[in-house]
Amino acid sequence: MPESFYITTAIDYANGAPHLGHAYEKVLADVLARHARMSGRKVHFLTGLDEHGQKVQQTAMKRGVTPQQLVDEVAVGFREMLSELGISHDDYIRTTEPRHRKVVQEFLSKLHADGLIFKDTKSGWYSVRQEQFLSDKDRDENGAWPEIYGEVTQTTEENYYFRLSQFQPWLIEHIRSHPDFILPRFRQNQVLEFLKEPMNDLCISRPKSRLTWGIELPFDKEFVTYVWFDALTNYYSAVADKGLWPADVHVIGKDILSPPHAVYWPCMLRAMGIEAPRRLLVHGWWTIDKKKASKSAGNATDSLSFARSHGKDAFRYYLCREMVVGQDADFSETSFNGRYKADLGNSLGNLVNRLLNMVGRNCAGVVPAPAADEDPERSVRSLWADARRTYDEAFAEHQVSRALEGLWTFINGLNAYIETRAPWKLAKSAEPADRARLDSCLAHVSEGLRLVGTALLPVMPDTAATLLRHIGQPVPSDFGSFDWSLAGSGVKVAEKCILFPQIDPPPAPAA
Ligand code: ME8
Ligand code: MG
Repeated sequence: MPESFYITTAIDYANGAPHLGHAYEKVLADVLARHARMSGRKVHFLTGLDEHGQKVQQTAMKRGVTPQQLVDEVAVGFREMLSELGISHDDYIRTTEPRHRKVVQEFLSKLHADGLIFKDTKSGWYSVRQEQFLSDKDRDENGAWPEIYGEVTQTTEENYYFRLSQFQPWLIEHIRSHPDFILPRFRQNQVLEFLKEPMNDLCISRPKSRLTWGIELPFDKEFVTYVWFDALTNYYSAVADKGLWPADVHVIGKDILSPPHAVYWPCMLRAMGIEAPRRLLVHGWWTIDKKKASKSAGNATDSLSFARSHGKDAFRYYLCREMVVGQDADFSETSFNGRYKADLGNSLGNLVNRLLNMVGRNCAGVVPAPAADEDPERSVRSLWADARRTYDEAFAEHQVSRALEGLWTFINGLNAYIETRAPWKLAKSAEPADRARLDSCLAHVSEGLRLVGTALLPVMPDTAATLLRHIGQPVPSDFGSFDWSLAGSGVKVAEKCILFPQIDPPPAPAA
């Protein structure tokens, strides 16, 4: 039985159009899912939509549609984004689906029956935007509410609470004893810092007088479920009948690590007697020209248009190469065009065509067998060994940008190797030794590109497959042939291959 790998993304809020942050997270998870499939694991990749809550209800009201109409429409846009980006998810969960509602209500019933949910009255400050009560420690240094909370009002309410505080000692111990639970590691410290203060119990209901768009509490018809309790449960409800729990990786952004994913979710599961997920992989934020990409900033939707103009694979490459997982990154047209031209067009695209030209001109289009083995060949192979080691180590920590960086060191090494060998000179020589060197050079570049094509399949699935076909190689479905083997010799290659066409900038708008 192949080892299973259950990976999820955050489920996006259904109150607006998809943007760059959403796109990146799905691409990152997709790259990890494809890599795991090629590594022989039985992958289950889940993504979906977070459809309940006050914001959805408000947006629907403003637009004069029902919340269900709104989320149905928004879901179409999000699913279109996934297909435009070539996302290979196995399941798409929407929190309005009956399969999800059933599990949320089962959780609530059990916790209520076990005395872990109780009713209480509370007055305090409430943030509509974040849909949560605030405490004084949420104020900034001037005593004001930070902007992320939007409008904050005083509210008195009867509600149901989950005995979250009871699980604090367990959670601290769990995080300490599972150093790979939260990656990158520096994020773990932020959570432990947060856990130094005693936690409050978690309000898990909203009275219907204020919010109707949610999952009804199974033990009190006057209330719906707090949207985070509802949303987090998606990871479990989607696989409840599939035997896939625990999740191997939840891919999320840094804004929803603590408290939702690092505190509420493991404690909810613990209270249910269910194992915690194995890992939270926390990525940073994309800014666009240094401002956070978001629906409210309205700056993020256009960036998706690069996937249309330059191809989804170039866009996927850019996102994965430019953002170090865990850090923030800035998206700009200049940096996108720079990588498209330098990394993709010049380093990789031209290299492929150099090989095809030389094999066409000197070997009737058939990759020759290597006949000489000298220092330059040995150093190409050793460069590959480095790139391969970096690739494997980086993927083990989900650091895709590092894997790509290592791969481009190798690609640039192949370009330098061609300059060293100067096959155009060797071709003119009458020396048999030079003919042997020429053959070796073409064989080595061909083999190098076969390995590069294989390594790129998770990141640029279609482009890498096109590359491999043009150099006469099969498209592997796994990493079974991912070692230096000179498998290219004897195969017929294509005449030319345009992987990254030059894209003219759109015409300037008429004055
Ligand atoms: O938080 N850069 O939904 P969401 C990178 N429904 N990532 C970003 C980003 C940016 N500029 N903006 C948002 C929610 N994201 C909840 C999740 S999960 C049970 C419920 C990321 O639509 C964000 O960090 O606001 C999150 O991981 C995902 O996009 C969805 O954000
Ligand atoms: Mg958000």
